Amino acid sequence: MTKIQKSIKILGIETSCDETAAAIITAKIKNKKVKIRNSEPRLKIKILSNVVASQIDLHRKYGGVYPELASRAHLENILPVISAALDQARIKIVDLDAIAVTVGPGLIGSLLIGTETARTLAWAFSKLLIGINHLEGHIFANFVGENSKYQQLTINNQLFPILNLIVSGGHTSLILMKDFGKYQTIGQTRDDAAGEAFDKVAQLIGLPYPGGPSIEAATLKKIKNQKSKIKIRIQNLKLPRPMIDSEDFDFSFSGLKTAVLKLTKELGPKLVNKYQAEIAAEFQKAVTEVLVSKTIAAAKKYRVKTIMLSGGVAANSQLRRDFESIIHNSKFMIHFLAPAKKLSTDNAAMIAVAGLFHFLKKEISNPFQIQASSNLKLS
Ligand code: KG4
Ligand code: ZN
Repeated sequence: MTKIQKSIKILGIETSCDETAAAIITAKIKNKKVKIRNSEPRLKIKILSNVVASQIDLHRKYGGVYPELASRAHLENILPVISAALDQARIKIVDLDAIAVTVGPGLIGSLLIGTETARTLAWAFSKLLIGINHLEGHIFANFVGENSKYQQLTINNQLFPILNLIVSGGHTSLILMKDFGKYQTIGQTRDDAAGEAFDKVAQLIGLPYPGGPSIEAATLKKIKNQKSKIKIRIQNLKLPRPMIDSEDFDFSFSGLKTAVLKLTKELGPKLVNKYQAEIAAEFQKAVTEVLVSKTIAAAKKYRVKTIMLSGGVAANSQLRRDFESIIHNSKFMIHFLAPAKKLSTDNAAMIAVAGLFHFLKKEISNPFQIQASSNLKLS
């Protein structure tokens, strides 16, 4: 048994890509004495502030993240963002129990701004420092937030084993979680990540960066057109569903992107513009079908109790809807979790929540040894 203080306050810092983010979470332990086994933290977690300075406008003209500009912007934003997070939470830095920071994977120049800032603050204010894997942060976004529907399930060991589909701008992986902190990668993309495919296809059909939200918005335009019976159709438009029937749980999205490139060349700019919504909708459908089908197949094989979505692409409504309906209509008793949309894309609250779990397990980093690592693996 470990005696734990009533309320824990953690500052999360995230700078792995193009969002400078800081957040404060607080966790209240229900029982004064908590036995910390891996799957047993009985916690009430609250986000007190969640500040994200997005660099989208800065990178838009390049159609993707320009690393050098990203690190410069992080440098300008990091201290104001941390101050804003503390102010909004009405917390002073001295009141914190720990600082959790993303140490990888990500852009090295961007990661360095976060890790050096966190290291300095931890040293200057004698705070515990916890290095977090960005992907683990995305996973932990599922355990907190304003999404009441999913919050009722919060954290309990009834959910394990969990199959986590991580779909972001840099990663697409299926991770089997037998317990908190125990990760086994059972499949991953062999080329582009799902979010990367959204971003590249958006650029090909003339939609702004980031591609995920703009493709989703364009798709809704198509639905509107269908409702008002304005027929905009490319004859027999059908994009490939790469690796949908492969025996393994790997993914591949570069062929899908090439198929869209070929289509845009055949159509020419005027027709691409005319059929933009339709191409966007077919592309989103293709990605969703592959992700859902392979995840469900893996969930059956590994007999998981929960399917969980993580990463920026988890914000996609069609992806959530399709998972919900297939799980609802299947005879398997599987829970489905997805973070609140705001917590799906990069933010620091998820880093703070992952930090809380390491804090409870007393897995603390040494401020003099913590290191940013662009290729950090989830282990
Ligand atoms: O997790 P994230 O914020 O950053 C990385 O860790 O990469 O994910 C960003 C990715 C981008 O590729 C973006 O286009 C995609 O997530 N994304 C979406 C949506 N919102 C963001 N993809 C599909 N639908 C969305 N609504
Ligand atoms: Zn991310």
